Amino acid sequence: MTRSPSPKSRIVITCAKGVPPFLKEEISSLGLPVRSESIAGVETEGTMEDAMRLNLFLRTGQRVLLFLRQLEAKNADELYAGISRMEWENYVSPEEYLCVTSAVDNPTIRDFRFANLKCKDAIVDRIKKKVGRRPDSGSKRTGVVVDLYWKGNLCLVYLDTSGEPLYRRGYRKIPLHAPMQETLAAAVIQATGWKGQGNFVNPMCGSGTLAVEAALAALDIAPGLLRKNFGFMHLKGFNRSSWNKMRQEARARIKKSFQGKLVATDIDPKAIQASRQNAKAAGVDHLIGFSLRDYAETPVPEGHGVVILNPEYGERMGKVEKLKMIYKGIGDFFKKKCQGYTGYIFTGNLDLAKKVGLKARRRLPFFSSNIECRLLEYDLYEGSRRISGDET
Ligand SMILES: C[S@@+](CC[C@H](N)C(=O)[O-])C[C@H]1O[C@@H](n2cnc3c(N)ncnc32)[C@H](O)[C@@H]1O
Repeated sequence: MTRSPSPKSRIVITCAKGVPPFLKEEISSLGLPVRSESIAGVETEGTMEDAMRLNLFLRTGQRVLLFLRQLEAKNADELYAGISRMEWENYVSPEEYLCVTSAVDNPTIRDFRFANLKCKDAIVDRIKKKVGRRPDSGSKRTGVVVDLYWKGNLCLVYLDTSGEPLYRRGYRKIPLHAPMQETLAAAVIQATGWKGQGNFVNPMCGSGTLAVEAALAALDIAPGLLRKNFGFMHLKGFNRSSWNKMRQEARARIKKSFQGKLVATDIDPKAIQASRQNAKAAGVDHLIGFSLRDYAETPVPEGHGVVILNPEYGERMGKVEKLKMIYKGIGDFFKKKCQGYTGYIFTGNLDLAKKVGLKARRRLPFFSSNIECRLLEYDLYEGSRRISGDET
């Protein structure tokens, strides 16, 4: 950048609720400090280059926000004045497209879009005054994205270096019904501890998100390699050669293969077709054995590993009575066909989960589109303990 926003800044990475423990692990493994954690985000500290690296390597984060300035603003006029005093001409060129996003909790603002508009006006008016032309603006996150966090009189201003949220990896061509977000699927896989050792079996694969994310993690393919556009690329002084170098490093880390087998099945032909296409777009289709079948007929390779299902849970699709039978059937499938494996069910319906009839060893909380979910873990050794009645 012509003038970077100080060599090191606070960097806030947002994520879904339940994900911070996994995001923290990723941030630490990239050699960055964890400064604090909130219910849906983790704060670290670093340079613009660090922000670029986070965008490239993180699997579980949604947006990488680089802190610029803290302002006091009681109302929209004070917001406009404070934002106008910032040197936007150093960050945004008039040829770029600008988008402002926000989270607002201020008594004078009824609609957050008004705050976005005031902030956008302040930025483009400032640039017009300094360089004679103003950038185009709108709601698409395809260019420069500025993010406001305005609570009471305190307003924090960030550059959203991701632009489009990071769950948009770029490989999902066909979403189908109730797909899991890519970043959530990555966190769930991290929670299982699977990194390519042993097998990964995913009946009810839907659009294939879990299987694709598992393959990416096992081969150490940085998710950012699959995406062409990020917010930071549109900032003044974007260092393309440094970005290319990071991408080369990421490519050099990619493994050729992994030990275990990856199996994904679904009863719906459209799901198998979508999964295959999505896996192809991610470059991992050759690693996943897809087949069309009932979950109970899924071929489970000899040995050990992870078997994971994300059945419908009645909130968005499916009928609860029919689902009760399916959950019970999953318990039987685990018990009869998956001995030696660790079983997982990701569900938003704990009553249905009780029908599995096996004792869960762990229950990890997650959120999917604001629905509280659990990842239930079952130890499937020979003669796994059946429990009586409706228990987990
Ligand atoms: C909630 S979706 C899975 C979404 C998936 N995790 C994703 O990210 O796209 C549940 C899937 O279970 C499949 N399904 C339902 N009943 C099934 C059965 N008896 N055998 C196999 N698959 C089944 C559906 O076709 C659907 O694709």
